[in-house]
Amino acid sequence: MKQILLKYTDNGDNDFETFLQINTHKIFNGRKFLNDDEVNYLLPSDKAEADREAISYAIRRRLFQRYFFSPIEEKLNTGATVLDIGCGPGLWMRDVGLDHPSSTFIGIDVDTTQFPPHDRHPSNVGFLGCNATHGIPFPPETFDFVHISMMCTAFTESQWYQVVRDVGRVLKYNGWVEIIVADLLIKNLGKAGKLVLETCMYPLIIIRPFEVFV
Ligand SMILES: C[S@@+](CC[C@H](N)C(=O)[O-])C[C@H]1O[C@@H](n2cnc3c(N)ncnc32)[C@H](O)[C@@H]1O
Repeated sequence: MKQILLKYTDNGDNDFETFLQINTHKIFNGRKFLNDDEVNYLLPSDKAEADREAISYAIRRRLFQRYFFSPIEEKLNTGATVLDIGCGPGLWMRDVGLDHPSSTFIGIDVDTTQFPPHDRHPSNVGFLGCNATHGIPFPPETFDFVHISMMCTAFTESQWYQVVRDVGRVLKYNGWVEIIVADLLIKNLGKAGKLVLETCMYPLIIIRPFEVFV
């Protein structure tokens, strides 16, 4: 069974539609993708993509030498409520959650197949399956910190406006939002790098015009 949120209301009287979904994935060019007309996500949902995401996260962690850039450390130490939109397998939440046991971390993602089992993540970290473009299913002023990372292949321009506006609704006064997106026009590439870039740009430009404004 699959449940989608049709309408979010602040009083908790949310409108859901439940239906039977047999094929959660479809195969394209030998790769598995989410089979959901409501989702624009361009990247696959399979083991190879999970491996790529884990490597990408490890590189960013090494490169940045920190988990976030916002001045939120003090608040995280005393107890903050954090939302990670498009959390994937929750690697970022696992690391920040372990460092900040007084804070609560909630990850939302449309692809619940990536979520780790309950005994494989810190107890202050939780996961919720939902499409962020249907509205963030939390009351106003819930979060001290909202983190959105590597979501440039997930939303159209109008969806970015919608999601960012909704982030403003769920963010507490004086809260912080951190959005990290990659610059896809990488310079000084070698032969293999150029091939990878061309392969990645094809779906972005041809299948859905690339419209990120962040
Ligand atoms: C490239 S991954 C990034 C994962 C993680 N944030 C990171 O930085 O490693 C993008 C994630 O966005 C999720 N996603 C795509 N469209 C979404 C939507 N409409 N609502 C919620 N999550 C979405 C995908 O399932 C995927 O897990």
